[in-house]
Amino acid sequence: MSTTTESTNGKHAMGVSMKRKEDPRFIRGGGKYLDDFTLPGMVWLSLVHSPYPHAKIVKIDKTPALAVPGVLAVLTGEDLAAHNLAWIPTFHGYDKQMVLAVGKVLYQYQEVAGVIATSREAAQDGAEMVDVEYEPLDPVVSPFDSREDKIILRDDRENKTNHIYHWEVGKQDETNAALAASEVSIKERIVFQRCHPAPLEPCGILADMSPATGRLTLYLTSQAPHAHRTVVSLVTGIPEDKIRVISPDLGGGFGNKVPVYPGYVVAAAASVVIGVPVKWVETRTENLTCTGFARDYHMDVEIGATKEGRVTALKVSTVADHGAFDAAADPTKYPAGLFGIVTGSYDFPTAFTQLDAYFTNKAPGGVAYRCSFRVTEASFAIERGMELLARKLNMDPSEFRLKNFVKKEQFPYPSPLGFVYDSGDYHMTLRKALDIVGYDDLRKEQAEKRKRGELMGIGISTFTEAVGAGPSKHFDIMGIKMFDSAEIRVHPTGSAILRAGTKSQGQGHETTWAQIAAEELGLDPQNIMVEEGDTDTAPYGLGTYASRSTPVAGGAIALAARKIREKARKIAAHLLEAPLDDVEWENYKFQVRGQPENALTMQQIAFAAYTNPAPDSEPGLEATFYYDPPNLTFPYGAYIAVVDVDRETGAVSVRRFLAIDDCGTVINPMVVEGQIHGGLTEGFAIAFMQEIKYDEQGNNLNTNFTDYLVPTSLESPKWETSSTCTPSPHHPIGAKGVGESPNVGSPAAFVNAVMDALAPLGVTHIDMPLTREKIWQACRQSTTA
Ligand code: CDP
Repeated sequence: MSTTTESTNGKHAMGVSMKRKEDPRFIRGGGKYLDDFTLPGMVWLSLVHSPYPHAKIVKIDKTPALAVPGVLAVLTGEDLAAHNLAWIPTFHGYDKQMVLAVGKVLYQYQEVAGVIATSREAAQDGAEMVDVEYEPLDPVVSPFDSREDKIILRDDRENKTNHIYHWEVGKQDETNAALAASEVSIKERIVFQRCHPAPLEPCGILADMSPATGRLTLYLTSQAPHAHRTVVSLVTGIPEDKIRVISPDLGGGFGNKVPVYPGYVVAAAASVVIGVPVKWVETRTENLTCTGFARDYHMDVEIGATKEGRVTALKVSTVADHGAFDAAADPTKYPAGLFGIVTGSYDFPTAFTQLDAYFTNKAPGGVAYRCSFRVTEASFAIERGMELLARKLNMDPSEFRLKNFVKKEQFPYPSPLGFVYDSGDYHMTLRKALDIVGYDDLRKEQAEKRKRGELMGIGISTFTEAVGAGPSKHFDIMGIKMFDSAEIRVHPTGSAILRAGTKSQGQGHETTWAQIAAEELGLDPQNIMVEEGDTDTAPYGLGTYASRSTPVAGGAIALAARKIREKARKIAAHLLEAPLDDVEWENYKFQVRGQPENALTMQQIAFAAYTNPAPDSEPGLEATFYYDPPNLTFPYGAYIAVVDVDRETGAVSVRRFLAIDDCGTVINPMVVEGQIHGGLTEGFAIAFMQEIKYDEQGNNLNTNFTDYLVPTSLESPKWETSSTCTPSPHHPIGAKGVGESPNVGSPAAFVNAVMDALAPLGVTHIDMPLTREKIWQACRQSTTA
């Protein structure tokens, strides 16, 4: 494994905490999951789901369920309506969503009723006995059928159309003209299939309305505990101080644990009504069928170029399948998320993109699955499109990319679709990748193999992302501005507690947040306790998804620590009996300028803050910082996949995969490497194995892990990683997000590699997942032809 690093700026190179970190394997975390929580008197909720994708509900008979031993109550949508909870607002507020179906169901497995019982088993038995009479209706499964408006799915809406919204950005006429004038162009329908984050721990809640305290405590698998608390307060009218959300350790989230699901609402409502704790933990099937799916974008990609291979224009027109409710988890002003990053790493003179979203009889969602709000779809579209155009131009795809990259001197780079990229050196990173992988030799080997009829492919993906929502002037969720926060308290003996508005789901914030504060304060990271996920104690923040934690909360931590350092300087001046201006922070200590022999450590200052504070300052040593970033950060990478395809069986073997990531300053290389390995494995699964498919009748065909495949170490390729470092100029420590990069960047590298392997057979594009059967069919058809 390669771990070399190049820097474009020595000041920020490689790891703010690397300087302080004696033990390169400093990692911590681990604890208590929702399943571990029980409370005295706790009862269970189980949900009843519709077998039909589209049907009228004629009658719901609760009697047989109520006869099941242990069953206490059966709740329907009409019961919730009595509490004004039958519908809840969706994320961006454009639509609303049924909690339990009233009148009709709109997708298979939609929640129809809830059964409360003394045990989980009794609740499940009861759920099976709820007698629902349905009258099936014709389903609308494809968004392309939906746009015909022959069957209107949402009769609750004033607008009698299945069309949800049209969104566009860029210069349409100019782009059309440039495409028409292009000497060479491609146009391809590229589908990013519906897939699912499928965290190993599913979603769940333990809702505890305490009659004694009058407070509602929600132990919730939540990636955004504060946002959830505010939403609960707004929807129910319960004052926010009477609500406490505790998000325990999470077994993965990947965007799946951002939305509010019917199980949460029913459990909380039931606890409020009956005054005992109510627990709901979804099954794997519920997770895969009802909770937030991802992607499902059908993208028509057009790119023009001169015959010398200089791009002239990009146009992408997308049809998006949003399922039954518009519950896509995107910031309010960005209905299609950050899809505008679709120009990628390339300097397009002009571009235009538009998107139309439609309702279908499928589960709602559209979550940012390890993705900054549709950045993954956009990256896949541009990276596949560039590959297709390189082939049409008969140019090497690496040369084509190098020719069209935004140049390092163009940063900050205003993209034609409205972003200002902060920093990057795409040429350096790709050249490094080509060098490490031995690109020229691989191409020679491929040529030899092709002569022998063997199918070998090399696929490149050089993606750029936009991560770190805020800034709050552009980003909000349900009106709540997207900033983030940190609070640091340094104790008298020099250890500390750090609380943040984010919520790790396995990303290692316990480690990296401590490292940022330690670096700023000269403390030992081992003695900085990190706490997230309890709304009673953490400062208000928008949570963790879309790789926003480091760009936003990471900045808040550094700036909170700098506030403390400024106060500590005053205490140092008092202790050193020197004017404030003469006191400097040097080598993690305070000293009178040029006099290191009397330097004071932060531990000494902390003790003085409580025992001998400066006469004109408040005692104590703590600070809170709410950080509203001035811009997104734009991490990027160069990924190269090398594959062999067996034309007899369609089997693809990923022989090599190199990922070079540039996320600016790296806080902890080991955590980052773990993020990259995990994300690449997910990208591999999306490219080759995973799709939430529906048949023509709207039946979900991937309801468990035998039909929706999750890769194990046996299938996963061996990952090679490396990095370059172009710090973000506006981030307090120069860091950009990284958690989602491998999931964003890798699918295109895999698909480009397989299409390169199949090039001698004349195959240009196959939609993911690239199953053995699809590859075999493609090989067979070309042989037959
Ligand atoms: O929002 P989320 O935590 O999912 O994503 P992130 O900000 O990309 O961070 C993922 C993990 O990688 C965190 O523990 C970060 O602190 C760490 N990281 C790092 O060490 N250096 C970076 N430049 C970016 C992230």
